[in-house]
Amino acid sequence: MPKAKFESDAIKTGPDKVFIVVPYVQSKSYTRSIDNIEREIIGLAQAITLEVVLVEIFNIGRVQAGHFFGSGQRDKMCMLIDEHKPDLVIVNAALSPVQQRNLEKDLHCKVIDRTGLILEIFGARAQTKEGRLQVELAALDYQKSRLVRSWTHLERQRGGAGFMGGPGERQIEIDRRLINDRITKIKKELEVVKRTRVLGRKSRERKPYPIVAFVGYTNAGKSTLFNALTGADIFAKDLLFATLDPTMRRLELPNGSDVILSDTVGFISDLPTQLVAAFRATLEEALHADVLVHVIDCGAEERTAQKEDVMHILEGLGISYDDDARILEVYNKADLLDEDELCDLNRKAKFDQRLAIVSAIERIGFSDFLDKISNIIYEQRVKKIFSIPYQDGKALSWLYDHAEVIEKADEEQGVRVFVSIEPADLSKFLTHYGYQAE
Ligand code: GTP
Repeated sequence: MPKAKFESDAIKTGPDKVFIVVPYVQSKSYTRSIDNIEREIIGLAQAITLEVVLVEIFNIGRVQAGHFFGSGQRDKMCMLIDEHKPDLVIVNAALSPVQQRNLEKDLHCKVIDRTGLILEIFGARAQTKEGRLQVELAALDYQKSRLVRSWTHLERQRGGAGFMGGPGERQIEIDRRLINDRITKIKKELEVVKRTRVLGRKSRERKPYPIVAFVGYTNAGKSTLFNALTGADIFAKDLLFATLDPTMRRLELPNGSDVILSDTVGFISDLPTQLVAAFRATLEEALHADVLVHVIDCGAEERTAQKEDVMHILEGLGISYDDDARILEVYNKADLLDEDELCDLNRKAKFDQRLAIVSAIERIGFSDFLDKISNIIYEQRVKKIFSIPYQDGKALSWLYDHAEVIEKADEEQGVRVFVSIEPADLSKFLTHYGYQAE
């Protein structure tokens, strides 16, 4: 690409204009329609405020090793680029380094692939130290094999603190050795950060709050629901991936008990393999939660495919979706359903303790949803018997405050109580008061 183009870009303001190329490879089996695929990649581009000026689907009989697309299709792209003058071409596929470089040469335009785009989104959204390190690691790993000039626009928009290699020619000057050094350093830092996170979780485990984690497909409305319930001001916009790192808030359930709500990053189909670790790191908290709320956008046409994607990813993380009693599915955006659909879902939810229907925006269905969360927590309670001497009124009243006393019998030495108690409260009681259950 001629240098002048980058220089003129430097004084340009406003969003980058993008041309999205959607390959439809005939030999590949797709689980969703081409319309859905197209809509999703447009949403991803808009997630980092790019201006989509053109979207074009290209049918591909056989992927070309060197260029991905055949020469006729590349000519057509050149024509469209001349006409629409995009700053960037996004190809909705994983391109090899060679394909990316050859396409840039042919099209005279910066090209990024789906992985590059998702990396940009993750980079822009990562908030915690671990999130940022994981994304940088993924980006370096991706970059290692493709020492081509970075896409500098977004870099500047973010104030230059991103990971795509810095402005101008700098990236091509960074050799693999430097990248490898940086990778080693990040891995070490990550170890330290992870240890701190585990300690953090351990200390939270000692606290008497069950964790309720929200998971779900990107844009399902997790942050909106989270905000509506807690009043927290988390970045919720109609942008995919508005959340990357888990965010936690305390919430009092209608039955008076406290829980910690945890919001997580949205799931996405065909997550590039380089990003799985970054994504997993953001989900670790969720995997240890007492309740896993799967937020589903019931207004989305592709909701079944989205739901299956989420199930698939959770199963990949060791959760047995159908049997795990901690999972509660919540259909959000009920306001978008027509009356028949809503009736149908409401009927199902009435008899299914693992299903709730809400509208985060219209604040509908919250009480049933929260009751179902309470039930799941309640079901995890354990039953224990303690004998408490009469003189230890404190321990007894603690149990009355934190557990359900099912039966009580006055005996010679003290009170014998049969209680139902949350695991976190039980360990707190055992360490604090030193009693053993019978
Ligand atoms: P990621 O952070 O990308 O994973 O998204 P998310 O699941 O946290 O979604 P978010 O809360 O950002 O909401 C996505 C879009 O859906 C926003 O435009 C919300 O306004 C919209 N939305 C959320 N809840 C509802 C709802 O109940 N009804 C309607 N109509 N729209 C909703």
